[in-house]
Amino acid sequence: MSLVEKVITAVAAKLPDPPADPLIGAERVVGRALPRRDGAQKVSGAARFTAEFHPPGLAYASLVCSTIARGSVAAVDAAEAQRAPGVLAVITHANAPRMAAPPMMMSDPDGAAMSNLPVLQDATVRWNGQPVAVVVAGTQLQADHAASLVRVTYQEEPATLSFEKAKPFARTPPKVMREPNEVAIGDAEAALRAAAVQVDAVYTTPRYTHNALELHVTTAQWLSDDELVVHDASQSLMPTRHTLAKALGLRDRQVRVLAPFVGGAFGNKGVWNHTLLACAAAKATGRPVRLALTREQVFRVVGGRTLSEQRVALGARADGRLDALIHTGTTAVVDHNLFPEQFSFPARHLYAADALLVRQHVVDLDMVANTAMRAPGESIGTFALESAIDELAVACALDPVELRRRLEPARDPSSGKDFSSRHVVEAFRRGAERFGWPAQRPAPRTQRDGDWWVGQGVAMATYPYYRMPGASARIRLHADGRAVVQASAHEMGMGTATVQAQHAAERLGLAYEDVTFEYGDTDLPPSPIAGGSAQTASILAAVTAASERLVEQMLAYVRSGSPLWGARPDDVRAHDGGLWRLDDPTKGETYAAILARVDRDVVEVKADAAPPLEVAKYSMHSYGAQFCEVRVHAATGEVRVARWLGSFDTGRILNPRTARSQFRGGIIMGIGMALMEESQFDERSGRFMNASLADYHVPVHADVPAIDVIWTDRPDPHTPLGVHGIGEIGITGCAAAIANAVHHAVGVRVRSLPITLDKLLPAL
Ligand code: MOS
Repeated sequence: MSLVEKVITAVAAKLPDPPADPLIGAERVVGRALPRRDGAQKVSGAARFTAEFHPPGLAYASLVCSTIARGSVAAVDAAEAQRAPGVLAVITHANAPRMAAPPMMMSDPDGAAMSNLPVLQDATVRWNGQPVAVVVAGTQLQADHAASLVRVTYQEEPATLSFEKAKPFARTPPKVMREPNEVAIGDAEAALRAAAVQVDAVYTTPRYTHNALELHVTTAQWLSDDELVVHDASQSLMPTRHTLAKALGLRDRQVRVLAPFVGGAFGNKGVWNHTLLACAAAKATGRPVRLALTREQVFRVVGGRTLSEQRVALGARADGRLDALIHTGTTAVVDHNLFPEQFSFPARHLYAADALLVRQHVVDLDMVANTAMRAPGESIGTFALESAIDELAVACALDPVELRRRLEPARDPSSGKDFSSRHVVEAFRRGAERFGWPAQRPAPRTQRDGDWWVGQGVAMATYPYYRMPGASARIRLHADGRAVVQASAHEMGMGTATVQAQHAAERLGLAYEDVTFEYGDTDLPPSPIAGGSAQTASILAAVTAASERLVEQMLAYVRSGSPLWGARPDDVRAHDGGLWRLDDPTKGETYAAILARVDRDVVEVKADAAPPLEVAKYSMHSYGAQFCEVRVHAATGEVRVARWLGSFDTGRILNPRTARSQFRGGIIMGIGMALMEESQFDERSGRFMNASLADYHVPVHADVPAIDVIWTDRPDPHTPLGVHGIGEIGITGCAAAIANAVHHAVGVRVRSLPITLDKLLPAL
């Protein structure tokens, strides 16, 4: 924390709470299961994604990627490529336009780059897959063909590629994200040694790659020497604009970034080499250029989730209560990204323990920069922690739901702050009821159905509540009762436009159908990154601020004789297309009447969200209970997920339909993480060996059972509309729930993801 942040935090913690959002309980529009606004456009093909914009004169780029993991480019022979049909340019470090190192997300609040290495500016090679040349041609086929003709020779240097071999040289970073890396309360190791019951185990998770349906793609067009328009598959529009501007020597306002639709983004749709290279190629050729990654390049050019080795040690009394909770471990990183993957975060907040120790170590490897992937940290951290809690339940002969009830802390165990809203025991209780979790569970390896062993597992889900600073919104209200709300937000398939229109309609007292939400363009008021499950709350706060400004503006238009004459903003409430007195809701005026008297057709306001001080004062998290049933084939060890229930405690739910879809998406990704996904890194070459969807298995329909989802729907009194983010929590706890169910089915504890049949077969 910087000094300024420390001061703000200290002051915020002492301030009284601002009044709770008066709309927390509103349910005219908010809370309705409305269909997604973008749905019809997407299924009919009318929605245009980044790779579907065709500026006149569009040229196509293809990357040549390094085949060594470390060293330098000795020579590039582009003669044959230059002669190939349609080729406009072959760009290498020798002739690339000069670009500064891009500001990085992890070190610059306005940055979007996932690594701060300069792009194609020198001969240095830092990972296998790094772009070393870009070929631009008239068609994609011509570009791809010519790229295959570029001959690159390398000066190879020894690379560090083995996690095992690098582990003795692990570093201990002072910070993990923006939190102190180490939290030590009491002497956890001593308490562990003295404890009556001990669980002390190592859990490993592999590398994972984001495989959004839409590939990473950038279309760049220079309107003049200092005017750049970029269509980018991005979950980070404003930071992308700033990053491109910095790297290309422009001012932010000289760059416009658009992404009206994004075909899925799970943490890594920021600025990578291809984003900058599309801009550079367009500059070098004087043509608009599209640079789309291939599926293979999604593994090699942009980064995914790193691997981890985690130790969880629990020292407990016979009744399960914890004397010690230790969660430490190591991940692989690069020295140009600052992304240790915060697997230790859940252990800071979930359980009461007399002594606590969390700490992370990192090793530096020569690989593509690892980065955020849906619930970075919490997803893999809950695999280890929630597996260990299950192991403790077995060791204490306790039901795992009951054990978690006993471990429920009164306050945040690491910060000592009050929880803003925590109803996780209720989520477990309701989940157990709905799932049919028995009061007396069958012992492990006792349920059999034909050739299949059957087992049930449970684990806690958790993800922090974040609200990002820097959100802004504009409202344009027309006299006929229609409104346009604008923010440069992202619709990546989660229902942004729908829930934001619901909110604005509720807040302004308008019909849902009369509110349009415009987004996906940096010409609109700034929004933060769609990440950290924070976009919804961040933009809600901005729209709330703008609507307050709108009320002030409307009241300024009120003339004597109006029932609103003399009213202050706190005296009125918006409903039925106008403003009405709180003390007598029949007294008021429609917006149309107010505007008619001042002879206006439209009023426009813009405002910034209040700073997110709530997070300084409270421990703010979402929770859930993941219940599942698995079947393990007695002969082959194949694991099938048979039943799923997610029971969540994530504040107020704005739209049950879009929310259910978000939770389900997270759970499906969790099933993939648990059972099938693994990016296989060749430690000889540093190259991914399974860089395709044929070899990297994501769950398909046949792998996914009907997923039941319920929620507490308890509003957090300290957030806009009472909401928490829900984009990431769905994936957390899944892998542990499955591992725990597998243990219940066959009595085998798999501590290494993914749980493939080779890990089960020897024990069957
Ligand atoms: Mo997320 S991993 O913050 O898109």
